[in-house]
Amino acid sequence: MTFIRSKVVGLGSYLPSKVISNNELSRTVDTSDEWIRERTGIVQRHISETETTAEMGIKAAQNALIDAHLLSSDIDALIVATSTPDLTLPSTATLIASALKIKGFAFDISAACSGFVYGLTIADALLKTGSARRILLIGSERLSKIIDWTDRNTCVLFGDGAGAFILEASEAIGSLADEGILDTLLCADAQEYHLLHTSGGIASTGTSGVIQMNGREVFRHAVMKLEDVALEILKRHSLTGDDIDWFIPHQANARIIDSTAKRLGLSSGKVIMTVHQHANTSAASIPLAFEQAVKEKKVKKGDLILLDAMGAGLTWGAVLLRY
Ligand SMILES: CC(C)(COP(=O)(O)OP(=O)(O)OC[C@H]1O[C@@H](n2cnc3c(N)ncnc32)[C@H](O)[C@@H]1OP(=O)(O)O)[C@@H](O)C(=O)NCCC(=O)NCCS
Repeated sequence: MTFIRSKVVGLGSYLPSKVISNNELSRTVDTSDEWIRERTGIVQRHISETETTAEMGIKAAQNALIDAHLLSSDIDALIVATSTPDLTLPSTATLIASALKIKGFAFDISAACSGFVYGLTIADALLKTGSARRILLIGSERLSKIIDWTDRNTCVLFGDGAGAFILEASEAIGSLADEGILDTLLCADAQEYHLLHTSGGIASTGTSGVIQMNGREVFRHAVMKLEDVALEILKRHSLTGDDIDWFIPHQANARIIDSTAKRLGLSSGKVIMTVHQHANTSAASIPLAFEQAVKEKKVKKGDLILLDAMGAGLTWGAVLLRY
């Protein structure tokens, strides 16, 4: 029997050109570069002045198509993970499909900062069942539009950007030596949704609202849940941190990342960290970090990689893949 794996055949990303440093932020809210660096690791964030979520996603997708040596006509399906869609309807995925002339099916998913990990899981299932042969998965976020720029508890944490993977169904033998997605593990604890949410929405207040968060509690849940999910997915395959070549987590806070890496017994040399440059770009953070690590010649074809993410919902999950 043929075994199908979802192989990553193209990577792309896009960051808006405007950069806001911690020092610049400290001129408008009561904060400091020292406080932000110490508590989060963040040094700067990219902010979109005019580009929408779809426009940033289009640029990331075009870069992924170039990387994969493919044309948009080679793509069967497009999934966009975002919490900041351009329009209430249609989906951002259909706006991007229209611009790129992609003819396959297209839809958005909403899983906040876990969006890319949820998206990889959905894409993997669609490829394995033969619903599509090549999927373009994009994480794109214009979080600057849902930030209260007067709230120092949240405005220092987030940034804008987009990242994309092209995934292709590929015949494999069904072992951990295969290239592609090897396993995924998704979780949610809806009882905790109140810890991180927007103050409004289209069907309630008629506005998007702004992000409100109990930072200390979100931090506590993130540390616990991300350690557990990372250990669980490794355990399912009798792996330990030693077997992993690279850990590419959602980039929300350097202290959360360090804590998971420590519990897995990973040295900092195996951890990809971009939160200092990008801040938290939600569903875009993993593909942005992944592509940067490949460009810097850290991550190479054939490496065993662990991804994890936690976000509003609360949602969280992990993905094990061989690049
Ligand atoms: C937000 C976060 C950085 C705060 O760090 P912390 O060490 O937990 O800080 P606390 O919440 O204990 O707040 C300590 C103090 O700093 C203050 N503070 C908050 N933001 C500040 C800022 N940007 N600058 C200066 N002081 C700030 C608080 O008002 C508080 O002051 P108080 O004690 O007088 O009330 C941290 O909780 C965190 O990263 N949480 C997870 C957030 C996250 O990643 N969310 C997205 C998940 S996908």
